[in-house]
Amino acid sequence: MQMFKDNVLKDKVILVTGGGTGLGRSMVERFLELGAKVAISSRRKELLESVALELSEKYGREVYAVGVDVRDAAAVTAMIEEVWTHFGQIDGLVNNAAGNFISPTERLSPRAVDAVLGIVLHGTFYCTLELGKRWIAAKIPGVVLNIATTYATSGSGYVVPSAAAKAGVVAMTKSLAAEWGKYQIRLNAIAPGPFPTEGAWTRLMPTPEIKELFDKQIPLRRVGEHGELANLAAYLMTDYSGFVTGSVFTIDGGESAWTGGEFNVLDEVTPQQWDALEAMRKKG
Ligand code: HXC
Ligand code: NAP
Repeated sequence: MQMFKDNVLKDKVILVTGGGTGLGRSMVERFLELGAKVAISSRRKELLESVALELSEKYGREVYAVGVDVRDAAAVTAMIEEVWTHFGQIDGLVNNAAGNFISPTERLSPRAVDAVLGIVLHGTFYCTLELGKRWIAAKIPGVVLNIATTYATSGSGYVVPSAAAKAGVVAMTKSLAAEWGKYQIRLNAIAPGPFPTEGAWTRLMPTPEIKELFDKQIPLRRVGEHGELANLAAYLMTDYSGFVTGSVFTIDGGESAWTGGEFNVLDEVTPQQWDALEAMRKKG
């Protein structure tokens, strides 16, 4: 589903954390289609290298793979230095790397909390800070896209470290949009609902019974398609969105509208039950 002019990202260099799998990889593919050069970074360097080779052959553009654990601030600095030196500049950053799993919160150890906060909140902050400093020093514009979640604003049980970390990411997005706008640095976030990926599904929807619980709360009655999110991400990375900053874009088939509405549970009421309720009302 292509909705942009070819080459709208021509020669832009975009760094995507967690770009070797899932939604990260789908965004990378859309950026390459639109003419960007891309760097992908995560912990599994071998996997990244094979994805980089496959995609650079498929799209005829450069894909550079670099290993990093975003929880390690010094490693993030070295990773950004490596990518900047390789391409001569970085124009955009997508903070997509994340860690998450479902668990009753009282069962979590401090290490489990740290693992998620470290990847999502600290990792996103380190990458943004390191690149932001470089953009400000070099006096060049930059664009950051943070991948959040819908429950970053509503909160959610059973994924509490993720909810807390993603809420921090949203606060950082808005705060830095305000502070760094004067440097022509834009920051936005996408809040996705459910999009099937191996990483999320194995950890968050591990059985058909659990997944079924979620299906009912999406008004459009389907999960997201990767291309739909990739198009929104591409828009936010191009100059078409030049006046957009500090915003969070929900893409969830109406799920958060449904879960946020007290009476939406009435979806369960059958037409016969509505007839009976109407008859009761008419009788007074
Ligand atoms: C309870 C758990 C756990 C679980 C790990 N831990 N999994 N505790 N329930 N399911 C605990 C471990 O016991 C350990 O604590 C601590 O967490 C660290 O675990 P490690 O395995 O050593 O961590 P690490 O190898 O660093 O892996 C990080 C991870 C892992 C977050 C735990 O899941 C990961 O690598 N995830 C990356 C990819 C990912 O999560 N993708 C999904 C993103 S989807 P102790 O105390 O025992 O040492 C998303 C939003 C989806 O974010 C929304 C859908 C709608
Ligand atoms: P995914 O494939 O598991 O993506 C997570 C990526 O993060 C992986 O590529 C992983 O690579 C990388 N990563 C994890 N820990 C890292 C670390 N310490 N350092 C560097 N990289 C690390 O899952 P996904 O579903 O595509 O998720 C992508 C983004 O979308 C995440 O921000 C997630 O929160 C968000 N999201 C997803 C959904 C959904 O339904 N899928 C819904 C809402 C939000 P390595 O293992 O190689 O490090």
